[in-house]
Amino acid sequence: MANSTVTECKEYLFKVLVIGELGVGKTSLIKRYVHQLFSQHYRATIGVDFALKVINWDSKTLVRLQLWDIAGQERFGSMTRVYYREAVGAFIVFDMTRGSTFEAVSKWKHDLDSKVKLPNGRPIPVVLLANKCDQKKDSNGDNSSNMDQFCKESGFLGWFETSAKVKFQHHNGWKKNESL
Ligand code: GTP
Ligand code: MG
Repeated sequence: MANSTVTECKEYLFKVLVIGELGVGKTSLIKRYVHQLFSQHYRATIGVDFALKVINWDSKTLVRLQLWDIAGQERFGSMTRVYYREAVGAFIVFDMTRGSTFEAVSKWKHDLDSKVKLPNGRPIPVVLLANKCDQKKDSNGDNSSNMDQFCKESGFLGWFETSAKVKFQHHNGWKKNESL
């Protein structure tokens, strides 16, 4: 009986979109997630950028996330249908300090749902990200039960407050990132 000692490693590749209005921090979030870096400097993305995040899920599973960083200005262009193709998940990002970027969230969601579906015909799963939570919220900022309700009504899996600038440390509150 040959008892193989070679452990099989399964690999998955997932295409994930990151969309939302101009300057909300899509590129910054991706840079933070993939390279642990942050820059104050704003350079608008032109068209689309890509990043790969490799996750050692467990000893037998490798996940590659192919992150598609789509420029905010593309909502007015004709390319999103092409960029969205075969995506299996998405993040829609808004800037907590600019209410207009939250108002655009539904427009992005609609654009997405009308142009891409999972192979089984269902909408792709989308998570809402309220970015720049290190800064002051826009005056009538939504509280969390409103956000829960909004997600339920609009078909988001859920939402998270995020910051590409500072790291959140459990139990210790906010801490400025040392790499700044
Ligand atoms: P487009 O490519 O034009 O669609 O913009 P984007 O969504 O990729 O925004 P980008 O990541 O370039 O960030 C825009 C500006 O916001 C930059 O000056 C960033 O430094 C700043 N920024 C991004 N995320 C955060 C954050 O979490 N907190 C703070 N304070 N600033 C942020
Ligand atoms: Mg960008």
